Amino acid sequence: MVQLTVDGKQVQAREGAYVLEAVRSLGIELPTLCHNDTLSPDGRCRLCMVEVEERGRKRIVTSCLFPVSEGLQVRTDGERAVRVRQMVLELYLARHPEAPEIRKLAAEQGVTVSRFGEDSDHQRCILCGLCVRTCAEVVGVNALGFAQRGIAKRVGTPFLEASETCIGCGACVFSCPTNIIVMKDEGPVRKIWSKQFEMQTCAACGRYFAPVFQLQWIEKKTGVPYEKLQVCPDCR
Ligand code: SF4
Ligand code: FES
Repeated sequence: MVQLTVDGKQVQAREGAYVLEAVRSLGIELPTLCHNDTLSPDGRCRLCMVEVEERGRKRIVTSCLFPVSEGLQVRTDGERAVRVRQMVLELYLARHPEAPEIRKLAAEQGVTVSRFGEDSDHQRCILCGLCVRTCAEVVGVNALGFAQRGIAKRVGTPFLEASETCIGCGACVFSCPTNIIVMKDEGPVRKIWSKQFEMQTCAACGRYFAPVFQLQWIEKKTGVPYEKLQVCPDCR
């Protein structure tokens, strides 16, 4: 364990932990959009910025990627850190002025208008990468990624076309903080990421509950026979 201070309070953290974890262990909330405890940190949203002081040197760092160390001093409430987080939120507000999640986070940090104006392309993907990492790290499929650069940067399947590897599980939908990923279940068909999946009916209750492709993938990975997978979670 290492000892550090956060906003003047002493706290112990396990070696190898990141500052964000130590901050939250004290009940101090920092805004985050790309963090999820079950996924590897990515440092993409730049919202969790704090000021750290080591050997007399102060700097602003990304707390979800900055490791704790003995004697580290962290300030979440210093003027510099607060200003940086507010500026990042202003940039988000300019790019996604209609996203309720962004408006809420911004308001919590005292930001209601953006000095950067409003982007005319009001798309709500904030490029947090949670869907990409969920697909890769939790599902183990790697169907999603980033394409293009700068303002044109997008998240999706390769060439934004129906992906061969996507199993239609919808885990990305549940990970998305802005609810922008569209998944439609229409009876025997699920549509997601430009692909259509045939749905399996539950052997017990008869409702459509999962894509056949997803169940076949689970069968291949786990060795559980397909017949055993044909029962929905409610009927198991
Ligand atoms: S689609 Fe959602 S989860 Fe994926 S990068 Fe965009 S906002 Fe994040
Ligand atoms: S939570 Fe740290 S950069 Fe997104």
